[in-house]
Amino acid sequence: MNKKILVTGGTGYIGSHTVVELINKGYEVVIADNLSNSYISVVDAIEKITGIRPHFIKTELTDAEQTKSLFEDNKDICGVIHFAAKKAVGESVEKPLLYYYNNLFSLINILQCMQEFSINNLVFSSSCTVYGQPEVLPVKEDSPILPALSPYGNTKQISEEMIKDKASISSLKASLLRYFNPIGAHDSALIGELPLDIPNNLIPFITQTAIGKREVLKVFGNDYDTPDGTCIRDYIHVVDLAKAHIIAMERMLNDDNKHAVEVFNIGTGMGHSVLEVINTFEKASGVKLNNKFAPRRAGDIEKIWADTTYANKELGWCSEKNLHDMITSAWKWELYLKSKEE
Ligand code: WQD
Repeated sequence: MNKKILVTGGTGYIGSHTVVELINKGYEVVIADNLSNSYISVVDAIEKITGIRPHFIKTELTDAEQTKSLFEDNKDICGVIHFAAKKAVGESVEKPLLYYYNNLFSLINILQCMQEFSINNLVFSSSCTVYGQPEVLPVKEDSPILPALSPYGNTKQISEEMIKDKASISSLKASLLRYFNPIGAHDSALIGELPLDIPNNLIPFITQTAIGKREVLKVFGNDYDTPDGTCIRDYIHVVDLAKAHIIAMERMLNDDNKHAVEVFNIGTGMGHSVLEVINTFEKASGVKLNNKFAPRRAGDIEKIWADTTYANKELGWCSEKNLHDMITSAWKWELYLKSKEE
């Protein structure tokens, strides 16, 4: 029997790419998602890519009863990869209680059900936003956790503490993956980043502007203390990120983890500014991007990129794709979406 993994948020951007990699590695996958920021058609796309259809259960994970039913109907789950959360930094500043309610109650229900059904392996979708604005770069896993600059980042900090506290008094094992900036799309161009309405994130806003869906890309701030004045981020290809989840889960399934809770920076170790990303896009696509400088966005940090040596060494994982590959795959995905609309 194939090992069964529950992927919450599995029709989402990172979740769907992780489901593809899990199926490719022979796992049986159950997706639980409330479809608040994704489409059921992603399940069809996953089947088209892998030839295997994951189970899908529409679930509101902030609802304890629905979450319990999900686990009761899948008692043979051996691990959980928990993506389901709201994740837009800017939006969290405008709607803090929505973020605290959604991101924390869903995790509490997951942890309670894992305890009740004796499922001890959790890979958690954390974020580099837990570091706030690091004073020293690149940022390491043991870098100070500074006060979060957004409610989104705060929900990730609180979530990590909840998991650590739960693991300290139970047999729970967890791998906290601190993502940097996931971008790009699967080579098939059948899955990718698919924001429901106006994108919050840079790359989909760039590709939607280039394809004509948006009029202009606003560059949020060009007066930062960086070489070209725009913010710096560590952009990582979503497939490289997805692969890290499988390695982290197998480390726990094989009892190779060295601590009950382990933390890994999942980035490339390279920082790129917004203007560098725009220039790379224009070179990769051959499209001149209409963009203009605008005021800074609340909640944004100035610059961050990862020290990935611990993840490279302990997980035996490292990112493989460069910025040009990432952006080319994002543009190919946007072109596919346009072709579907025609
Ligand atoms: C990147 C840069 C913006 C849009 C993301 C995820 C978050 C977390 C960290 C995983 C910033 C600038 C953006 C635009 C712009 N990842 N920008 N114009 O805020 O770093 O957070 O990565 O957990 O979940 O959201 O990503 O793509 O929103 O912004 O100038 O229209 O691009 O100011 O400097 P962010 P982002």
